[in-house]
Amino acid sequence: MSTLPPAPRQVTVPEFRAAKARGAKLAVVTAYDYSSAKLCDESGVDAILVGDSVGMVVQGHPTSLPVTLDEIIYHTRCVVRGVRRALVVADLPFLTYQVSPRQAVKNAGRLLKEAGAHAVKLEGGVRMQDAVKACVDAGIPVMGHIGLTPQAVHMLGGFKVQREAEALLADAAAVENAGAFSMVVESVPADLGTQITAAVTIPTIGIGAGAGCDGQVLVFHDMLGLYPDFKPKFAKRYADLGTAVKTAMEAYCREVKDGTFPAAEHTFR
Ligand code: KIV
Repeated sequence: MSTLPPAPRQVTVPEFRAAKARGAKLAVVTAYDYSSAKLCDESGVDAILVGDSVGMVVQGHPTSLPVTLDEIIYHTRCVVRGVRRALVVADLPFLTYQVSPRQAVKNAGRLLKEAGAHAVKLEGGVRMQDAVKACVDAGIPVMGHIGLTPQAVHMLGGFKVQREAEALLADAAAVENAGAFSMVVESVPADLGTQITAAVTIPTIGIGAGAGCDGQVLVFHDMLGLYPDFKPKFAKRYADLGTAVKTAMEAYCREVKDGTFPAAEHTFR
């Protein structure tokens, strides 16, 4: 049940931001292509994130680090064509904003101008506040991302739960003060997720950050059982499409080999 505009009016950044004040929870999911974005949009999600998780669940890399800006632009264009209502947020990949605030504005601008995203997401709190502010000053809405920041996986020593409350609260404040309209909070203990949510006025979108956040985000392939390599504890599996796809493919192979496909109804006369 969504409390934001029904189809087909687009969810706006101010509406997304204002959901927190009304106590309306926000449902966010990742998508990377037209067909899945259309299904997600028609299901009533409030925002679709074209995440750099595409590097793992679509491209098969062990981390998101190899993903390029041009790849996110390509996937965002595909997603935008499938969306009528949800806010579309595109990820800034590794090393497309960390070099300088100027680099952040230039590349974030491409995601709006060339790809059609409504907003961008970038990772980091205190250390990225100048980049967030520069984008916002240029009229580019920014979703922050604190806690486990996967682009820093090697600094962090792995995809680990982040527990340093003081640093995380400082990150959350920095992201809000820099002008972000919301922030992802990834892999923190639930009580800390609740604490961060209470400390800021913009929506927190949790992923492995407990039920106290203002919204939740899941990776499309994780929630549908389409990514066999790794299943994070926080990723509830809402369907097992991986098994359904394998069963269907096995039936197809069998029928091609035994000659029962194509049947008369699949054949032109
Ligand atoms: O890239 C991504 O999909 C993300 C989400 C996990 C928040 O950053």
